[in-house]
Formats: sequence, C-alpha cells, structure tokens
Amino acid sequence: MSRRFLLALLLASMAAGLWAQRKSGPAPSDFHFAIIGDRAGSPEPGVYERAWYEINLFSPAFVINVGDTIRGGGDDSKIDEQWLEAKAILDPFRHIPFYYIPGNHDIWSEASRRAYIRESGRPCHYSFNHGPLHVTVLDNSQAGDGALPDAELQFLERDLAAHKAQPLKLVVFHKPFWIEPVAQGRTDFPLHRLARKYGVTHIVSGHGHRFVHMVHDGVDYMEVGSSGGTMRGKLVRGEGFAQGCFYHYVLAHVRNGRLDFVVKELPPPHGQARFFPASDWDAKGPRFDPAVPATPAR
Ligand SMILES: [Fe+2]
Repeated sequence: MSRRFLLALLLASMAAGLWAQRKSGPAPSDFHFAIIGDRAGSPEPGVYERAWYEINLFSPAFVINVGDTIRGGGDDSKIDEQWLEAKAILDPFRHIPFYYIPGNHDIWSEASRRAYIRESGRPCHYSFNHGPLHVTVLDNSQAGDGALPDAELQFLERDLAAHKAQPLKLVVFHKPFWIEPVAQGRTDFPLHRLARKYGVTHIVSGHGHRFVHMVHDGVDYMEVGSSGGTMRGKLVRGEGFAQGCFYHYVLAHVRNGRLDFVVKELPPPHGQARFFPASDWDAKGPRFDPAVPATPAR
C-alpha cells in the first residue's frame, strides 16, 4: 500500500470523525419541533397524511404525538394490521425522529402493550433532552378517569429531580384529566404540585379531539386536538372552530429560553388553514375573530 494511499485514508477517516462529532454534537438552543394530534379511533381519510406532509416541509428537529396512533378497538387479532396501516402513512417521514406517546387506542391489553413498545421503539414512559428542553412522556392510557397512576407520578418526580438543570420542561401524556381542575382554578392536584416544584413550563395531552389551551398558575396547559381522529359527533352537534373542533397540528419553537406554540389548521377541504399562536386561545376559546385570525385579541 503506497504512502500516498495511506495518507488519503487517514485524511478521510479524520473527516469522517469530525463529521460524526458535528452530527452528535449538542442540540442548538434555537430549534423547532412539531406536535401531531390523535389519529384514532376512526381516522378521517387524508387528514393525518396531510398533517405529516406539512410538518415535513417545516423540517422539524423531531415530532412528538399525543397518543392514539392506531385505530385500536380492543381486538388483539387486529393489532398487526392496524400498525401496518399507520406505518404505511408514517414511512415517508421516517427520517424525522418521532417520539410516540401511548394512548388508549394504542394499548388496551398486554398484547397491544407489547406491540406498542415494539412498533413505536419507545417504552411506555421515558424522557429525553433536546438543547435546553427536557421532555417527559408518561402513560395514562389505561387510567379509567385519566388521572396519572401513582407509578407514573413517581417516575415523573424522579425524572424531574434528575433533570433539574434543564431550563424548559415539557410533560406529555394522553388523557387530559387536568382540564377540570385547571378550569376550576385548583392548584392542589399532584401533577400541578410537581410542575410547580420542579419548574415544569408546559403540559400537553390529547385524547379529546378538541383544542384546549389554558395558562394556569404559571404552567401552560394544552390539549392538542385532532390530526385525523374523527370529530363527526361534535360537528353534528354544532360545535366548530371556536369550541376547538378543527383538524390541526402544533409547531413548537424553542428560542431565547422560551417555548412557544403555534397552531396550524389544515387547509381545504379539511379546514380553513387558520394559523395562530396558542397564546391567543384561553379558557373561553379563541381571543380573535375565527373568521379573521389577524384581528386584535379580545
Ligand atoms: Fe384517546
């Protein structure tokens, strides 16, 4: 082997090392990611696909969901078929890191739990850091009233204590049991107490197929609504955009030590492509004229 060839080999391996180092280097303090809502139990054709198509165009650092990826329904014999159906939609976007959250349509039995772990590649609860952001994922998929089981609260406290130094903390789980106590102005429930104790800035859920956003006692609570899961019953009853019933996903931006959410409604034929900051929505609904989101906030 000639000396020139050995030198070329050495330079190539140094370049590869530098590249690997750059790729595995620390995440930036300014980045964006996306949160996609429920797809189950009866997906509206084309909605989830369109949401992913748009999200991909924004080149997010990662995508996180709020659970209920597959149709579910309680029949173990349909698990593999349902995951195949969901994975066929997700496959074109597999280059984007995707953090799954377990929903009641994903896990209803031991077999479906094993399938969820295998197909999502994630445990039922876990956490990760990205730049200044710490994300904790919890599992309340099987909790009848949605309240976080004791084991999940214990995991959350251990996890938050271990990552105290992270400036931004987001906690995500499927069932939004916090809506009632937050709407009542209560601060005495265990999740909120832990959030205050460890500086959790944001709590995000799904499940209700309805957009909800409330800032309560310094904590930003949000239910991401439907990214394809049907809302037909609500729409038939006369509910609509102002009640949080619209197909959407959320873009999240971390910068200057803040985490901000922007809500993107799907375009026709699935919606009116309304685009607004989550901060323009409170317990009473939109703080703007739904016909013209650029109107001054009420
Ligand atoms: Fe659900």
